[in-house]
Amino acid sequence: MDNQPKVYIKSYGCQMNVYDTERMYDLMFAKGYTTTDSAENADLLVLNTCHIREKAAEKIYSELGRIRQLKDKKRAEKKRLIVAIAGCVAQAEGRAMFERAPIIDILVGPQNYHILPDLIDRYDNGERHLIETEFNINEKFNRLKETSQIQSYTCSSFLSIQEGCDKFCTFCVVPYTRGAEYSRPVEEIVQEATLLAHKGVKEITLLGQNVNAYHGEDKNGRNISLAQLLNRLIDTVPEISRWRYTTSHPKDMTQELIDAHGQQKKLMPWLHLPIQSGSDSILKAMNRKHNVAQYIDIIERLRTQCPHIGLSSDFIVGFPGETDADFQDTLKLVNTIEYAQAYSFKYSSRPGTPAAEHDNHVPENIKQERLQILQNLLNTQQFNFNTSKNNTVVDVLFEKPGRREGQISGRSAYMQMVNVNANHKYIGTVQKVFIDTVNANSLGGTLVSEALHLQNEYTHNQNISS
Ligand code: SAH
Ligand code: SF4
Ligand code: F3S
Repeated sequence: MDNQPKVYIKSYGCQMNVYDTERMYDLMFAKGYTTTDSAENADLLVLNTCHIREKAAEKIYSELGRIRQLKDKKRAEKKRLIVAIAGCVAQAEGRAMFERAPIIDILVGPQNYHILPDLIDRYDNGERHLIETEFNINEKFNRLKETSQIQSYTCSSFLSIQEGCDKFCTFCVVPYTRGAEYSRPVEEIVQEATLLAHKGVKEITLLGQNVNAYHGEDKNGRNISLAQLLNRLIDTVPEISRWRYTTSHPKDMTQELIDAHGQQKKLMPWLHLPIQSGSDSILKAMNRKHNVAQYIDIIERLRTQCPHIGLSSDFIVGFPGETDADFQDTLKLVNTIEYAQAYSFKYSSRPGTPAAEHDNHVPENIKQERLQILQNLLNTQQFNFNTSKNNTVVDVLFEKPGRREGQISGRSAYMQMVNVNANHKYIGTVQKVFIDTVNANSLGGTLVSEALHLQNEYTHNQNISS
């Protein structure tokens, strides 16, 4: 059907935005739209935006400059292009965005995108500059249930179980853009996971800004913790072979959840647990609600339960008032923990957050210098971790064709990208891979089943010829 309207959604920022983008596709499919992979062919273009750092937000305005030209071109060809901005920039900046970029037609916040189809109807009826940024999180999930055929997914999928944040770290916009903490009810999550399993999904990552603060209600009205939810999901949706959860806050890392890493084989031996800084005084100024010793204690308890667990974190360098001694403490912490992988960022001052009011901002060149030093250390640790998997057999969930002809690509239990020369029929399955190549950001190897097969053939041929 060539006259079917087409939607293109571009996602920025965190995994929660990836999940929201998939749900927006579902909403638009239910409204008779089909998807396209380019803005040029779209009738509806949605940018699902991120406000976490200044650069992320500014990126949207440069993108809007290009879209303005596209919209003019389409107008000249008498084709329509509705431009909608969703996500955290829409929530944070609201109506002011229309003034800075008048080509925007619709603005929806992260807790309002469920009404996007209604806003498009209103646009079609002649209304312009439509905006909805109230926090309607309960209503959102109820509405999503109605259209939830989950047509947009991959064999490794996200499932949002918790949203919003009550922690108020002094640098962070999330509590303002996503609103107060909210946990979805248990039954709703079980239903969604079951639906994903029936579609052939093999791995589910449970998402939340503070996922381990999850405390949703079960059908008897009891509050269920993340560890209890995981146990329930692993029992009731056996088709899912891998479970993950992200992002966790150290303060909510209970012993029950730590124990789950020792008890549940389907819970991947991997944890992203951001600490942000290795200095107690900076952690205090960040309002992180935990200190370095508590963090190290959590890691030790995790490693007792699951000795091979791979650890990841986020770091901010150059938080206001960060001294060289504070930064050295961060390096010391990184050396103590030995991460498998981690993200690091220069502090970015965000309007409306308490840290932005400080008058002791760290100069840009020092931030840059510290970031470089930290990233070098983290890259070395990542390379060491990857090297430790060389000449071993790892399980890989193959997700897609690789970049090179004949390759397929997937992830190990430790989130490492693994590329293998193998048939596309293995995509969507977990296979054993013998690792023989270590690159900075990926691993390479051979399917063990293929290697055995080749070896058998070799032995067979040897037997015939002898
Ligand atoms: N909820 C998660 C992640 C939130 S945002 C958590 O609590 O860890 C992801 C990461 O972006 C943060 O962990 C932090 O390292 C980084 N970040 C957030 N605000 C920032 C800012 N103002 N400047 C630089 N980095 C920031
Ligand atoms: Fe932001 Fe802190 Fe909440 Fe994470 S815990 S989302 S960093 S306020
Ligand atoms: Fe960005 Fe919003 Fe996620 S600010 S990191 S898209 S919660």
